[in-house]
Amino acid sequence: GLPERVTIYEVGPRDGLQNEKAVVPVAAKAEFVARLVRAGLRTVETTSFVHPKWVPQLADAEELLAVLPREPGVRYPVLVPNERGLDRALAHGVTEIAVFGAATETFARRNLNRTVDESLAMFAPVVARARAEGLWVRAYVSMACGDPWEGDVPIEQVVSVATRMMDLGCSQLCLGDTIGVGTPGQVTALIEALGAAGVAPSDLGVHFHDTYGQALANTLAALRAGVTTVDASTGGIGGCPYAESATGNLPTEDLVWMLDGLGVETGADLSELVATSTWMASVLGRPSPSRVVQALAKE
Ligand code: HMG
Ligand code: MG
Repeated sequence: GLPERVTIYEVGPRDGLQNEKAVVPVAAKAEFVARLVRAGLRTVETTSFVHPKWVPQLADAEELLAVLPREPGVRYPVLVPNERGLDRALAHGVTEIAVFGAATETFARRNLNRTVDESLAMFAPVVARARAEGLWVRAYVSMACGDPWEGDVPIEQVVSVATRMMDLGCSQLCLGDTIGVGTPGQVTALIEALGAAGVAPSDLGVHFHDTYGQALANTLAALRAGVTTVDASTGGIGGCPYAESATGNLPTEDLVWMLDGLGVETGADLSELVATSTWMASVLGRPSPSRVVQALAKE
């Protein structure tokens, strides 16, 4: 069966804009987030409190939060890798954070300058302090369906990092197919293995990049396996500067088109999303890769 309702976890302002060559002005970022909220999205990952030299595109996190109007009932999570990032986030009134680990040693090293063990040791005090302050904490596990340097990633390896991150006290585990190589059978097997290890589908989010055009099929497989939180980026922007083979996320419009057709509630207004990504495409100077945006923008 399928859930009656799906929570869309929008990542366009963070995953999308972290990967743009040009730095988008703060005012445009704030407008992007505000328009996504007006389109009915209730969780919008807004920015990252990472090292500004590692991701210059999001070095304006403080400025953005200072000007961003925040609506009641909307969650605005931010990425936080370490205690320095948590200090910055707390100073700006953040109430939801995401730490981000990797299923592979190569990506942990490239993305966090740490081994997998060292990155878990870096997250432990962040999660403990955040939970003590009453924050909601998501834990990403990247390269959950394959790694550009290591190839196939054994399910047990993903499950091991995932359970270790949940044991730190995280509220939600998000499976990241960073480079978009996963296929639906793999997704189902991964969700079943996590369930057997004590991480229920209701505690999961899925984060599919669409490099191989599998994101929507993978999402449907995850929904059938009991997942109800799905990541997507309006216009399908996204990628990871530390994994060049990563392309954009599942476009939010493609997700909403499918879920509207299935009669699954999301609260999102498709035409508002298309108007938003069409506007964002003009800011970025290139068209959205989303097929749904291309089809609807012509109407
Ligand atoms: P490091 O170089 O090992 O840092 O980087 P360090 O701990 O050695 O600290 C060095 C200096 O940086 C210190 O300053 C710190 O204070 C400062 P000093 O004492 O020398 O003057 N520093 C900071 N400054 C501001 N904010 C901070 C911060 N941290 C340290 N937060 C680090 C380690 C984790 C910081 C670095 O590797 C980093 O920032 N990485 C982030 C990479 C990133 O953002 N990648 C993209 C997001 S992940 C993704 O896209 C995947 C996802 O979408 C899921 C999927 O698709 O799979 C989530
Ligand atoms: Mg991503």
